[in-house]
Amino acid sequence: ALLLKQHFWNGNMVYDDEQRGLKKQIVIYFSHVVAENTPKGLAAQKFAELVEKKTNGRVKVEVFPNGSLYSDGEEIDALLRGDVQMIAPSFSKVTELIPEWQVLDLPFLFQDYHDVERTFTGDVGKQLLAMLDEKGIKGLALWSNGFKQMMSTTRPLVHFDDFRGLRFRIMPSEVIARQFRLLGGDPIVVSFDHIYRSLEKHEFDGQENTISNIYSKGFYKFQPYITISNHGYLGYAVMMNKSFWESLPKDIQQKITEAMQETTVWNLQQSKRQNEEELKKIEQNKHIHIYKLSAEEKKQWEQRFSPLYDQFTKEFGDKLLREIKQKEK
Ligand code: LMR
Repeated sequence: ALLLKQHFWNGNMVYDDEQRGLKKQIVIYFSHVVAENTPKGLAAQKFAELVEKKTNGRVKVEVFPNGSLYSDGEEIDALLRGDVQMIAPSFSKVTELIPEWQVLDLPFLFQDYHDVERTFTGDVGKQLLAMLDEKGIKGLALWSNGFKQMMSTTRPLVHFDDFRGLRFRIMPSEVIARQFRLLGGDPIVVSFDHIYRSLEKHEFDGQENTISNIYSKGFYKFQPYITISNHGYLGYAVMMNKSFWESLPKDIQQKITEAMQETTVWNLQQSKRQNEEELKKIEQNKHIHIYKLSAEEKKQWEQRFSPLYDQFTKEFGDKLLREIKQKEK
């Protein structure tokens, strides 16, 4: 922790150093919880490279993957304290800070990648990022991982009876907890870095995640029944400690913004590609059972989940929802 503080302090020394004609390197610690070879891990590295290049090495972004600095339950507090300067938690984890972000956890919110892109890069994305500002966070972008799939240890998850009585690992989000209760399951919050150990100890029977997380962390080895349901979306709020951001010279802020825009465009393509490719790799394992939800089954799931929309609207109004669902003509 001392080392981290030192770096942060160095970052804040920029002005003094400039007055003395010295240009000290600015170091940004970027902590995240997933593997390096994932949509978020690769985007973080790409962003680091672009920032370094665009600032001629003046800014260095050091990426810490796999929750090696902070687990997902700790990283937002670490950012607010200024122990790290950047994180990219999934939307569900932001809901603890800003409950309205639950809108992004509503099942079947997005039909396809086009919907995702329009929402993340458009006006809704801007509104969501602006909400972070009030919490002392500079929201930089929304990154993508992919559509979530259902998986279980014991049986295929297709009909509602299949879910009954099973324990499901979830991220901390009220909408997701309710989603599993509507299916007759029992949701339990487990942080991402504990999933593997919990699986070894049979602490839960099922979960939802993207193919890239399922593949890179080997969850499929324990839970061979995968339903391609594309029912939810896993994305990330890329954020920076606000006072750190404000301490940066304007030209550096500009370069960081450019690097983030380029990375975000790349991340959308890469995440789609990676989930498709890794599904093929998982399919090659003989013990894996993959079931693709039919259009009819999907309709049944959508109907089952409709109370989630009513509840959300009751709590937060329908403005954001309407804007997301509004298709471009
Ligand atoms: C999860 O907890 O399953 C995900 O949010 C992990 C991640 O950051 O992709």
